[in-house]
Amino acid sequence: MRLAYPERLRSEVEAFLQTVRFSEALQTAGLEEAMRYSLLGGGKRIRPVLALATAEALGGEPEPILPLAAALELIHTYSLIHDDLPAMDDDDLRRGRLTCHRAFGEDVAILAGDALYAEAFRLLLTRQSGAPARVLAAAARLATATGVGGMVGGQYIDVTGGAEPGANGLRRLHALKTGQLIAASVECVFELLPAVAGVDGASLRAFAAELGVLFQIVDDILDVTGTQEALGKQQGADARLGKRTYVTEFGLDGARRLAAESHQRARDALQRAVPAGAGELGAITDFIATRSY
Ligand code: IPE
Ligand code: IPE
Ligand code: MG
Ligand code: MG
Ligand code: MG
Repeated sequence: MRLAYPERLRSEVEAFLQTVRFSEALQTAGLEEAMRYSLLGGGKRIRPVLALATAEALGGEPEPILPLAAALELIHTYSLIHDDLPAMDDDDLRRGRLTCHRAFGEDVAILAGDALYAEAFRLLLTRQSGAPARVLAAAARLATATGVGGMVGGQYIDVTGGAEPGANGLRRLHALKTGQLIAASVECVFELLPAVAGVDGASLRAFAAELGVLFQIVDDILDVTGTQEALGKQQGADARLGKRTYVTEFGLDGARRLAAESHQRARDALQRAVPAGAGELGAITDFIATRSY
């Protein structure tokens, strides 16, 4: 049975993000406006929702994790702003609206992305409760996931076409550019909360890594099969840019088969990780595999 995406957790994230403010000076109010335009303009909120669901699966409450969850969404939003820039994917539409650089100019969009990245770490390091060593461990995991060995390194390999040939090269590209931040959405919470009996950490990490790759395989498929209206972004961007994707590598049917296999592997790893039941994590996994936007 396919389970429904947890709207309850998404609303909590949405409400918290509305409260996060950035500028205290009149001179930078325009920068904050650009940041909030991109941050609050829709989005599935998968990364923060994953973090809250992980907290629940580990026996915790979602609310105390909100600063970390919001930090994940700030970083994701920065990555979208920069990904859409003319020097990168050159997209005009994001989350159903003009991209940040089309609305505010390239200079402001670059700075809005830079600022969201720094503000994410400020949020995590100043507002996240927990033992200092655990908060630091979560911050270190997040920095690793977004640096050269993670998201930005993956984006570099993507824009330079530097992925190694073959299925493994493509999987590695996806694991870096998208997978690491998704995986960190689970793993940072694992770093933050005390160890729980009945949870197998290695399997939880395997689940998180698989989920990250699954997410980008489905993104590749939707770039071909989705509609601009549903996606809120331009369909066909990968083909326009000559990007190497699961669809170019394996064809549409092949990509769908690999997505289904990845979905099953993620489900199996989750079952091993939390045999007593992982709550909403299963539902989020199903949503990521079967989504149309
Ligand atoms: C799109 O991410 C960019 C990728 C990493 C593939 P999402 O599909 O999560 O975008 P939003 O946050 O819902 O807009
Ligand atoms: C982007 O991948 C991954 C990021 C780190 C933002 P894509 O370039 O495929 O994302 P979309 O399709 O523009 O959302
Ligand atoms: Mg891109
Ligand atoms: Mg793009
Ligand atoms: Mg894409």
